[in-house]
Amino acid sequence: MKFFIDTASLAQIKEAQDLGVLDGVTTNPSLMAKEGISGEDRVRKHYVDICTIVDGPVSAEVIATDYDGIIREGESLAALHKNIVVKVPMIRDGVKALKYFSNKGIKTNCTLIFSAGQALLAAKAGATYVSPFIGRLDDVSTDGVALIDTIRTIYDNYGYTTEILAASIRHPMHIIQCAEVGADVATCPLSAIVALFDHPLTTIGLEKFLADHKKAAAAMAKA
Ligand code: E4P
Repeated sequence: MKFFIDTASLAQIKEAQDLGVLDGVTTNPSLMAKEGISGEDRVRKHYVDICTIVDGPVSAEVIATDYDGIIREGESLAALHKNIVVKVPMIRDGVKALKYFSNKGIKTNCTLIFSAGQALLAAKAGATYVSPFIGRLDDVSTDGVALIDTIRTIYDNYGYTTEILAASIRHPMHIIQCAEVGADVATCPLSAIVALFDHPLTTIGLEKFLADHKKAAAAMAKA
């Protein structure tokens, strides 16, 4: 399973990249706003900055919601860097635009997926990725991971090559559960990725190995 980081923070992207397990980045307008990035030029420069840190897919979301606007904005984002993936909302004009981009060889990520039917439409339109928001589903007492599982079954039934990009991940168990049901990608906050490293028995085990090594070295020095 591929790991993307879900942030527009350059510091966090660098930190994740340094871990050696990062495959790509997703952003959205809220994440850009959180970093105080606004205005067309600054937004475009920020995407290019992200692309210089990570050599992998970087999702850049369109703001337009009408077909012509989505096409115009998407083409201009895609022209910024070869790694840009145009993020398009799951709306009628968005699905139409997915088809257009797919015919043009422009990579896309269909965002705000909350049902299997939406994921099926996005795959039929040729989306490169679909982003089911599992955390937001869990928030309304609906099983987000179960949706990933259902989409996996549907895509496998018909051989759709659209990748399932599990989004709105909140904690490390979401990552494990997504891996179990066969998500292609998980886009995660840095905290969820880092949490995968930790296990108390690893810490205790390493302390013991190092202490035993030190003891043996001291005994040898004495002999
Ligand atoms: C997906 O690409 C989105 O950026 C995302 O994961 C949103 O997650 P949230 O529910 O934590 O805002």
